[in-house]
Amino acid sequence: MKAKIETIGIDGDGVAIVDDQKYFIPFTAPGDVVEFDVIKGKKYSRVEVTGYPERSSLRQDPVCVHFESCGGCKLQHLNPQTYADYKVGLLKRALDFHGVVSIEWRDLHIIPARRRRRISLTFAHRNEGLMIGYMRRGTKWIIDNQECHLVLSEIEVLIPKIREMLAGMFQQRESGTVDILATKVGLDVNLKSMHFKNPTLEQIETLTEFARQNNVARLLLNYRSFVTFREPVVNFSGVDVAVEAGKFLQASDDADDFMLSRVSDYMPEKVSRGVDLFSGRGTFTFLMAQKGPTDAFECENDAINALQNAANQAQVPITVTKRDLFENPLSVDELGHYDFIFVDPPRAGALAQVQLIAQSTLQHVVYISCNPASFARDAKILCDAGFVLDSVTPLDQFLWSEHLEVIGKFRRG
Ligand SMILES: C[S@@+](CC[C@H](N)C(=O)[O-])C[C@H]1O[C@@H](n2cnc3c(N)ncnc32)[C@H](O)[C@@H]1O
Repeated sequence: MKAKIETIGIDGDGVAIVDDQKYFIPFTAPGDVVEFDVIKGKKYSRVEVTGYPERSSLRQDPVCVHFESCGGCKLQHLNPQTYADYKVGLLKRALDFHGVVSIEWRDLHIIPARRRRRISLTFAHRNEGLMIGYMRRGTKWIIDNQECHLVLSEIEVLIPKIREMLAGMFQQRESGTVDILATKVGLDVNLKSMHFKNPTLEQIETLTEFARQNNVARLLLNYRSFVTFREPVVNFSGVDVAVEAGKFLQASDDADDFMLSRVSDYMPEKVSRGVDLFSGRGTFTFLMAQKGPTDAFECENDAINALQNAANQAQVPITVTKRDLFENPLSVDELGHYDFIFVDPPRAGALAQVQLIAQSTLQHVVYISCNPASFARDAKILCDAGFVLDSVTPLDQFLWSEHLEVIGKFRRG
């Protein structure tokens, strides 16, 4: 088949239409003319490009040698304007779909390359030797990453060192994952594999030496501390909070800084008591607590403990409660204790909670989302209940991916 790419779909693939049938073709740009075959699989069909009779002028050269084989990036091939239009379009489409209008649109903010502070990689022995990297999209193939333009340089330089160490340690078909997090005091590295259950004396020496030589503040084996030179922390609004490789944290310091400044801007000037829902380790809780006593709700034990301990130690008026906010959202009565609410749910959004916020007397809501679709669905519920979406900010914290973060400010109209 031969077709022209019309647009980019929400998953980042180019869209071509032939005989009223849509085809989603990865790594293409609007204006490309492509020849492709449709390969029928047991469950799904996939498209395989066989030629490019015409390349679009909206393209640019990708920066990474692994682009198109690695599962880490989808959109390095678009020029900056086309890329930015696609990202903003993700939010516009979602809000339009639900008929939600924002009074103000702030500019798209893009976190640049080489800022990512956390990654998870897979490793395994193959015939070619020990491979470590991202998985090829939709497959079980590991890309042996020689470079990654997303991550901080201290993370990138660690990858060949981990490869070398693991290659020396494992001779057979062992496999596992590596989580790396750059913190204020150095790297936190977690190695996960069943082969680390009972390390030999030689492996213990190798791992300890590896940590010592590579600015690794702490090395974990299967999420248990193996050697700790410094307790890993990040700083939220002046307070150090314990963190852990492989656990949730926003993707970069830069994203934290940008979101905190936008949330500060979106918050009302005076807050007598605020509440932070889906608080994690407190990225936004410590900012909120600068305005007034703040309650935080979260379901993950490690995050709750880290946040409450940090707040107690710094004597910041924060109370953290463990709660499943999908099953047991704050009731209308409970919401009545607050004059400001901040919500930052996972991709699914906060449907049950938002339905109760809609019935409450709350006047001010700031909502951060990593999924424009669930954000728009929840925004519609708030707007139908008398809120207005005062302002939205699209934030691209996952460069070259199909993901977009949204920061929204709602107030009663
Ligand atoms: C997008 S993260 C935001 C965390 C935090 N606001 C931050 O910026 O670091 C979503 C958080 O919601 C928590 N979470 C997921 N499902 C939950 C649920 N059903 N109830 C409460 N918290 C949940 C996760 O553990 C995670 O910390």
